[in-house]
Amino acid sequence: MSAVVVLGAQWGDEGKGKMTDYLAEGADVVIRYQGGNNAGHTVEVEDKQYKLHLIPSGILYENKINVIGNGVVIDPKALFEEMEYLNELGVLITPNNFIISDRAQIIMPYHKILDGIKERARGEKDIGTTRKGIGPCYTDKMERSGIRVCDLIYEEIFKERLRNNIEEKNNIITKIYSEKPLDFEEIFREYTSYAEKIKPFVKDTSVEIYKYIKENKKVLFEGAQGTLLDIDYGTYPYVTSSNTIAGGVCIGTGIGPTMITNVVGIVKAYTTRVGKGPFPTELMDKTGDWVREKGHEYGVTTGRARRCGWLDLVILKTAARVSGLTSFAITKIDTLAGLDKIKVCIGYEFKGKNIDYVPASLEDLAQCNPIYKEFNGWDESIYNARSYEDLPENAKIYLKGIEELSETKISIISVGPRRDQTIKISQL
Ligand code: GDP
Ligand code: IMO
Ligand code: MG
Repeated sequence: MSAVVVLGAQWGDEGKGKMTDYLAEGADVVIRYQGGNNAGHTVEVEDKQYKLHLIPSGILYENKINVIGNGVVIDPKALFEEMEYLNELGVLITPNNFIISDRAQIIMPYHKILDGIKERARGEKDIGTTRKGIGPCYTDKMERSGIRVCDLIYEEIFKERLRNNIEEKNNIITKIYSEKPLDFEEIFREYTSYAEKIKPFVKDTSVEIYKYIKENKKVLFEGAQGTLLDIDYGTYPYVTSSNTIAGGVCIGTGIGPTMITNVVGIVKAYTTRVGKGPFPTELMDKTGDWVREKGHEYGVTTGRARRCGWLDLVILKTAARVSGLTSFAITKIDTLAGLDKIKVCIGYEFKGKNIDYVPASLEDLAQCNPIYKEFNGWDESIYNARSYEDLPENAKIYLKGIEELSETKISIISVGPRRDQTIKISQL
């Protein structure tokens, strides 16, 4: 039995798409368990680049089953656009290689509108969301007024739920935010056409995934966002609205924790963050700009420039703790080539004490000063390294330092965006 979780150990964009695609070669099934099209996962195969938002990164192989689990929030318009985009690139998507949970929640037009107007209303204190309707959709799920895939495909149930929801949302939109109301008929027509299109793909995916595991199929869970964007363990409220950590797999797919065999934390060799919120090791100087340009650190979903900073082991230790990581996969180590010195945060100085955890209160986190250990850099490009031995001595020392200081071993090293630019260190 093999059920491997791939999740972001930082603030997202660690290279989960690339690593999922790499690991998918040896898997049978790839499953998304949370988030929605706020995610932007890039996969490069030979000279082709694919940008995925909702569809699992296993879709590029012909013979893998791809699953959208119940914990995901689905914008059907975005889903069908993504399917079309992939079709145009020659990727075949059928109910034989792609299934969608009947329990997944649907992102409605009012979720997207509310995401935008709530952000505007927050003014200076905005979260910097992707404005894809993620937060408002999960809010309705928890509030029990959400519309699930199985509700969408029953026309009468959908009609009733939509009518109730539109009435309430229009009250909020017009009376609180003084914006234009939404038209029930228009949304009903649009979404009933999506219902027809989605039907062939809909299954009880918990039943299916259980079956795959029992059949000894190799299963891969593809996380979206990252540990510090987790609704419970992230830098709240500057987080996303789902559980990105390994616990989210059980909730978001309907399998038990004892079925998970490995949890790989994807770690960018430095740190990036898009959107607002605390970032103790952020570089607000030329080095930060250098890393952004060298690493092409611009968002896949929104095109926003990513904030860049040194690697933070407090964050990696947090990820290892809350997700029970069995190893790290390090990405973008190639980006660091050319730096004279590379710093790594090994702890925070907080009120005269050294700590190695992320405090819950943002006021406390703001008082944390990173304690750095400095490593010597290297100039050699490692883009073409294909084995550990090919790496420059100082890159090896940097990687060993990460392993030792964070007490988690590295199983994979990525030296470029392409599938083949990957060094396997150990079996997962
Ligand atoms: P995800 O959201 O975690 O899947 O990551 P993104 O796709 O948003 O961002 C990661 C970016 O880095 C993408 O453009 C990838 O193609 C690229 N990438 C992934 N691994 C590597 C690597 O090892 N080196 C370099 N240079 N780029 C990488
Ligand atoms: P992947 O899967 C990086 C960030 C947003 C914002 C916060 C809340 O590509 O790593 P949301 O729209 O989710 O309500 O926004 O979370 N965010 C991401 N940052 N990578 C992502 O996904 C992200 N998805 C959301 O920028 O700060
Ligand atoms: Mg991304």
